[in-house]
Amino acid sequence: MSDAPGEVLVSRERLTERVAEMAAEISADYAGRDPLVIGILKGAVFFTADLVREMSIPCELDFMAVSSYGSATHSSGVVRITKDLDVAIEGRHVLLVEDVIDSGRTLRYLMRNLAARDPASVETCALLSKPAADRLDLGTRYVGFRLPDVFVVGYGLDAAERYRELPYISVLSKP
Ligand code: IMP
Ligand code: MG
Repeated sequence: MSDAPGEVLVSRERLTERVAEMAAEISADYAGRDPLVIGILKGAVFFTADLVREMSIPCELDFMAVSSYGSATHSSGVVRITKDLDVAIEGRHVLLVEDVIDSGRTLRYLMRNLAARDPASVETCALLSKPAADRLDLGTRYVGFRLPDVFVVGYGLDAAERYRELPYISVLSKP
């Protein structure tokens, strides 16, 4: 198992291009609905920041933090909210923004948790989605890139808190 970023899977240019496409789609879908965009810390922080800046409609921004992985590269299946929202979401159109869906457990937990707070709607937007995610059938509305089953770092994604700062998505190691 290598422990350094190798092959570039998604270049900086391709990220910029795809984020703009997703922002355009979201802007069209949410026009007049004043969405609350919720970024999941820390992995989705760059994606969320780039996405909202490319959107052509006004929105509000908030963040949640969850812990599910520790520093290992495999899901523990345990999800815990370590930072909750600053605002109530009752009656709001919520768009949850995640970096990557692997098993889908994190997103499934968060969707249920947020749905219980009576928002007008909850949809999800993931930059990356791995094959396992399809099995849970989460109905993720916006997906940037579908990945094979590899562990990736960069553009916010980490391995034990390293490599988040890379401006592209790179493969760390094969599972
Ligand atoms: P899930 O609950 O199995 O869908 O895992 C989702 C979370 O695991 C993401 O928010 C990431 O924090 C982490 N994760 C899953 N795959 C990767 C990866 O390839 N690189 C970095 N983090 C990952
Ligand atoms: Mg994460």
